[in-house]
Amino acid sequence: MTKKLRKIGVLTSGGDSPGMNAAIRAVVRAAVYNDIEVDGIFQGYDGLIRGDFKRLNVRSVAKIIERGGTILKSARSEEFRTVEGRRKAFENLKEREIDALITIGGNGTFTGAHIFTEEYGIPVMGIPGTIDNDLYGTDSTIGFDTATNTVVEAVDKIRDTANSHNRLFFVEVMGRDSGFIALRAGIATGAIAVLLSEEEMSIDDLIGVLEKSAESNKTSSIVIVAEGDANGGAYEVARKVNERYAQYETRVTVLGHIQRGGTPSCWDRVLASRMGVAAVEGLIEGRTDVMIGICNDIETYTPLSEAIKEKFRLNKTELRIAKILSI
Ligand code: F6P
Repeated sequence: MTKKLRKIGVLTSGGDSPGMNAAIRAVVRAAVYNDIEVDGIFQGYDGLIRGDFKRLNVRSVAKIIERGGTILKSARSEEFRTVEGRRKAFENLKEREIDALITIGGNGTFTGAHIFTEEYGIPVMGIPGTIDNDLYGTDSTIGFDTATNTVVEAVDKIRDTANSHNRLFFVEVMGRDSGFIALRAGIATGAIAVLLSEEEMSIDDLIGVLEKSAESNKTSSIVIVAEGDANGGAYEVARKVNERYAQYETRVTVLGHIQRGGTPSCWDRVLASRMGVAAVEGLIEGRTDVMIGICNDIETYTPLSEAIKEKFRLNKTELRIAKILSI
């Protein structure tokens, strides 16, 4: 028989993502619905170490489902990587009589949560909130859909001016270690090529693709470059292409952090709401050291160690059709 939960703590950590607020709201309301109190912890693990807690109730999370960012703020905590930092964090949880912790974030967040529960036995539940979509155990992470929609909207605008001037644009999108945003947005915007770390495309290959399309009278093109691509980012790719191929005038746009902000899409709001409720229900059932995910429309719990280790591979069909459709 699992111990009755009386109070849980919730925090957001790492890079923020649109939909984190919807997840916080769902956690608080599902907890209150089940007679469990909730403390919000500010600024991720740093706030846990400093003791920056605040009781949340159903009204404190009103009208946040539509807001980007995170009302709890976020941080990438260096101190939580230390034994001393985690000791302080645990002391604070004990003092506040918190029985379990929900962490909303990505890879780094879950690495910390996994070590923490191994050291102190406090139940932890992860909710995947990152625009990068690079976690195993869920079809989509919270924020990925909104971020890709932001990219698509921006690239559609760039396309207009690229067309008017017969230019080749290199557009850099986020994803230090993952090409999910690049691939998805590349398909949706009809990019001529997508450069990402998971499947290398050399400058020679890229020039080959550009030459072939010029033969069929293509006058302007968009190349999407993932931040983590091995060729060194959009400016570097543009420079290398310019050195050897003068068919087009080129321009570079780095989209940067606009991809992390803004109103969450309907998809991300619903995803976050489902995950928030399932996270609380999972803790009530006695689950710990796991990440809630949704695979094939079904809630699933994956051990944190697997979620962070097993890199979620790019969809092979998407990789294939991106090539077929860009000719
Ligand atoms: O949160 C993920 C992410 O946006 C990556 O795509 C990107 O590489 C990184 O965070 C940027 O981090 P920061 O906001 O700390 O510059």
